[in-house]
Amino acid sequence: MIQIDSTEIKKQKKLALTWAITFLILFPVLITLGLLMRLRQGEITETGPSEFFSYMTLHGLGMAGILFTFAFAALWYLNSTRYVRLNLKFGWFLYFLILIGVVGLLYGTLIGKFGPGWYMLYPLPFKGTFWPAWATKVSVISLIILGVAWLLGILHMIYALAKQYGGLTNLLGWQYLGKKENITEIPSVVLITTISLIPGVFALIIGAAMLIMYLLQSFEPSLAFDPLMMKNMVMFFGHTLVNITMYCAVGWVYALLPEFTHREWKVNKAVVYSWNASFFFILFAYLHHLYMDFVQPTSLQYLGQVVSYSSAIPATGITMFGVIAQVYHAKMKWSIIPLMFLFGMAGWAIGGFAAVVDSTIALNSSLHNTLWVPAHFHTYMLMGVVLFIFGFLFYLFSGKDKEEKDGLGKAGFWIFVLGSYGFLLMFYLGGLNSVPRRYSNYSGLEIDHVRETGAHLAQCAALFVGVLLVGLILMYLSLFCKLIQQKVSTKESNS
Ligand code: HEM
Repeated sequence: MIQIDSTEIKKQKKLALTWAITFLILFPVLITLGLLMRLRQGEITETGPSEFFSYMTLHGLGMAGILFTFAFAALWYLNSTRYVRLNLKFGWFLYFLILIGVVGLLYGTLIGKFGPGWYMLYPLPFKGTFWPAWATKVSVISLIILGVAWLLGILHMIYALAKQYGGLTNLLGWQYLGKKENITEIPSVVLITTISLIPGVFALIIGAAMLIMYLLQSFEPSLAFDPLMMKNMVMFFGHTLVNITMYCAVGWVYALLPEFTHREWKVNKAVVYSWNASFFFILFAYLHHLYMDFVQPTSLQYLGQVVSYSSAIPATGITMFGVIAQVYHAKMKWSIIPLMFLFGMAGWAIGGFAAVVDSTIALNSSLHNTLWVPAHFHTYMLMGVVLFIFGFLFYLFSGKDKEEKDGLGKAGFWIFVLGSYGFLLMFYLGGLNSVPRRYSNYSGLEIDHVRETGAHLAQCAALFVGVLLVGLILMYLSLFCKLIQQKVSTKESNS
């Protein structure tokens, strides 16, 4: 750890709080879009298809975007207040750049009705669309702005860490694998920051290239690109970004859980081997999205299955083992923060298992494009990443006593978890009953059982979303009280 003076820490905290409040504003807005979609699928409202698909696009891109952005901002805060100096002005510049991207995307989707889904499957944004060409341009440019901001932020953080710890190989922990005794030790969060963010560089470069191709075609309609190549690019970009969001969030669990269990969680050979293996697998796991593309070389399809299975084991296994070793018989208070981390791990494991099921070629031929797919990724994002984020938010908003009793927050937490698993269960049941994903409503389905089950499950899901929103409101109230307390005690100690 290096010495970082208290004024710098205060300034970095202000930036982190600004990110946090922005996240807390956008998150319920995006949930509301999800609720509107479920209400439409349950035939409770009559939202038109153009609204539905623009909501779906904003919801998908927005959720994935805010979760990654906040995960990045949290790592920025932890690294910059403990291990390395990061340029604060640059941090603010990234904040405003990302805000511009968000406003552009809101405009393109809500006003322009840009609605091809997050994956914009080529040639979709140009063929058979119901939105004007300007909406495509605005949305694509906004996504490019977001991508550039993320790329610059990642490069800045990796460069600063590499300088601090003597190069990239040290950041990857390779010094632990040799026989030397005096090695540069690295904190686990630094290792995981590196392993998570470097694949992000590849993903963002490929994503930027793909978006530029979209932009070129939007200005020059006679251009045409190979759809299979475009699908490989978009899936590599999207899958990798969502995958590393989880890894970034796990990074701060390694850093913060020990503060509650009072046990060290250090980097060792097993941790380095496991995370480096995941580093490699992350890059190829996306291939399971292309099983239905018969023109994709067969060898890549098999590679997709092998790598998807392999990617599920090392980082997850070593982390689960680490968490058990941390909490087993630990003399700790189960305050809301470690509770959220523990449940976040469970969400990661449950959703991850359902994802491995879906990445099995034999099962994918039945589950592909059914509600099983949103079921698994909503599980590890909502009950994994989101819980890790709220754990971090409670940590950030708490004063000195991070283990204090918090009845309001805990009540909110249990209601949120209950509502979320109910909402998720409806997706899983939908998948098992062959209800297709990305349908604004199921009235056109010819099989009575699927049509009726789809609508009924959507109605139940909307009820559960109501429950999770109640939990969320209680958690927000608790966070708000903590923030006020923090402000009061800072004022008192200054005066
Ligand atoms: C908590 C409340 C949430 C609700 C009510 C909700 C609801 C929905 C619904 C109804 C769909 C459309 C499913 C379909 O028929 O295909 C959907 C899609 C999606 N959701 Fe959520 N969701 C929530 C949270 C999240 C979170 C935390 C993420 C984080 C990544 C997320 C990311 C996505 C994505 C990427 C899609 C796919 C969009 C597309 O296919 O273009 N959602 N969500």
